[in-house]
Amino acid sequence: MNERSPRRLLVAGGAGFIGSNFVKLLRSTRPEVEVTVLDKLTYAGNPANLRELEGTPGYRFVRGDICDGEMVDHLAGQVDAIVNFAAETHVDRSLLDPFAFVLTDVLGTGVLAEAARKHGHDVFLLVSTDEVYGHVPEGRSKEEDAFRPRSPYSASKAGGELLARSYLESFGLPLVVTRGSNNYGPNQFPEKIIPLFITNALDGLKLPLYGDGSAIRDYVHVEDHCRGIDLALRRGTPGAAYNLGTGVETSGREVAATVVELTGLDESSIEQVVDRAGHDYRYALDVSQAREELGWSAGIGFREGMERTVRWYRDNQDWWRPLRSGEYWEFYRRNYKPLEVK
Ligand code: NAD
Ligand code: DAU
Repeated sequence: MNERSPRRLLVAGGAGFIGSNFVKLLRSTRPEVEVTVLDKLTYAGNPANLRELEGTPGYRFVRGDICDGEMVDHLAGQVDAIVNFAAETHVDRSLLDPFAFVLTDVLGTGVLAEAARKHGHDVFLLVSTDEVYGHVPEGRSKEEDAFRPRSPYSASKAGGELLARSYLESFGLPLVVTRGSNNYGPNQFPEKIIPLFITNALDGLKLPLYGDGSAIRDYVHVEDHCRGIDLALRRGTPGAAYNLGTGVETSGREVAATVVELTGLDESSIEQVVDRAGHDYRYALDVSQAREELGWSAGIGFREGMERTVRWYRDNQDWWRPLRSGEYWEFYRRNYKPLEVK
């Protein structure tokens, strides 16, 4: 198999959850690759995620916005490839502030694609999501399926992907896309279901389950996802997209029950709240293309991954406790409504 191996990488959004796990994976497995992280440090970006790399040779951090064309152009001229993680990522926040998502996830992706094109990069790796397929009532999404996004988040991710795709078609940009399922693991901001439920459980708070908790997701451990992104970077065919998930279906209620069990609570900690508007009730991926073309499959099962993740949040309270203050609780109050006030 012919592999490309970019020597100098720009990792946009590298201070977030998946981006920082990816950068750490890269530094430990291929230390010869020079990495520049570009990150705006929004509420979700955290320098602490990358602290262990500060001052190490071949690594640098630049604070900046992917919508800033001049700065992106300057940095893109110093590398061989871009991997883009930078995005607004939380569906519930996209219902409250949609245009922040359009700006970063569409325009920002376009700015990066433009710079990659101009500097003749070997590859532009766009980290996309299974949410572009929308609600999947039956069967499994394949890479060639139509986009049917239903939230401002997923519509913005789909828009960014389409814009990058237009650069592939119009200018020959060597675009490779990954469409990952729901990630969990260390350093995830405590707003997505798994870190929110774990941190609430450790704080003795209720676990707010949307509706009846029957919505299905495919939870992939972030280490597996990052390994898949790295394989796509090296082996992905320009123009191709790769679904990255486990193929296992897990309901919100099962997530809640697992957290309750692993933290020693009881079921009364689970509280039904008003459902998410436009809730996608099922995502399900066909992951055969990533297996066959990239040689990738997920290795960490949900139970093992959850045990590791609960342990990480128990052992790293100084990482997440400062995040749960001020704006965090303002968002929480705006977002979660008890059933009776519906
Ligand atoms: P995250 O919210 O933890 O991190 C996003 C990072 O992007 C933060 O560091 C933030 O500061 C940075 N950022 C935001 N706007 C920026 C801008 N304008 N310029 C520069 N940096 C900016 O997100 P995550 O969960 O790590 O997701 C990373 C990527 O993976 C996203 O593109 C997301 O759509 C995609 N994805 C996420 C999941 C998941 O389950 N979390 C699944 C599949 C795909
Ligand atoms: O599928 C990949 C996507 O997964 C990523 O592209 C997104 O960036 C990421 O945010 C995530 O989106 P989801 O909306 O699927 O994740 P979230 O953790 O917000 O919700 C997962 C399920 O849990 C969903 O059915 C809604 C439910 N849920 C979520 C929260 C935050 C609850 O029941 N209660 C909650 O408090």
